[in-house]
Amino acid sequence: MNYSLVTGASSGIGLEISRLLAKDKNNLILVSRNEDELLKLKKELEDSYKVQVHIISKDLADHNSALDIYNEISNLGFVVENLINNAGFGSFGRFNEIDTLIDISMIDVNIRTLTYLTKLFLPDMIKNKKGKILNIASTAAFFPGPYMTVYYATKAFVLSLSEALASELAGTGVTVSVLCPGPTKTAFQSKAKMKKSQFVKFGVMEASTVALCGYRGMLKGKKVIVPGVLNKFLINIIRFLPRSIVTSMAKTTQNID
Ligand SMILES: NC(=O)c1ccc[n+]([C@@H]2O[C@H](COP(=O)([O-])OP(=O)(O)OC[C@H]3O[C@@H](n4cnc5c(N)ncnc54)[C@H](OP(=O)(O)O)[C@@H]3O)[C@@H](O)[C@H]2O)c1
Repeated sequence: MNYSLVTGASSGIGLEISRLLAKDKNNLILVSRNEDELLKLKKELEDSYKVQVHIISKDLADHNSALDIYNEISNLGFVVENLINNAGFGSFGRFNEIDTLIDISMIDVNIRTLTYLTKLFLPDMIKNKKGKILNIASTAAFFPGPYMTVYYATKAFVLSLSEALASELAGTGVTVSVLCPGPTKTAFQSKAKMKKSQFVKFGVMEASTVALCGYRGMLKGKKVIVPGVLNKFLINIIRFLPRSIVTSMAKTTQNID
């Protein structure tokens, strides 16, 4: 049976993408650490849309997590048709003051496991000549980001990987899309301890709106999806600015002092 796998389905953008997939009658594999939230969502989606929902409670910072997920799904005989690499988090502060383990596990979740899951599930998609991958980056992917240095860099990786892979896979039946949201109303900011940041003061979008934009873009096989007029304007205007100014813009927005 065909399934869509969503990482980080317990809240925010991933939860809303899961709802959209279920509404369109996709069976789901939902992954995050929070088993209670996943069970709640499983019940909601199975009751409302009569789809099959399998949950996997897993810490994606764990180096074995991608392989464990792949093995569990293979043993169940599920085929992953759509892979939504959404799980991610940020950290706010000076590079030298942020706990090293937080930033290293961020690299593990935002980059390592996203890449590993893609490596594991892509071969079957290519064999079946059918599949969609949606990676969640950020408008941060277009900037160097002082005071969220590692987070911005992880998202630049996701954007670059996704665009390159989309190009490699042209004509295979498998598409790769990357969603680059700007500030979005979710638990992300409080988890990243971004109280002082000005980043979330302007043009904040609803998670459901961002998810819909990403989902529609993925269905169309659109390569880079930027939700919201303001975000589109921003990432286009900075193409014409010197990199030093772009970095200063990001630094001012974070307003650490
Ligand atoms: N909100 C924004 O302003 C914004 C802007 C641009 C991009 N994004 C990106 O959008 C994506 C979704 O974030 P969100 O805004 O929806 O934030 P969110 O509400 O905090 O959701 C993050 C999701 O990722 C999961 N996750 C985080 N660390 C994990 C780990 N170690 N293992 C397993 N799952 C983990 C969380 O699940 P558990 O905690 O249950 O494990 C949760 O389901 C992220 O990649 C984020 O970088 C967000």
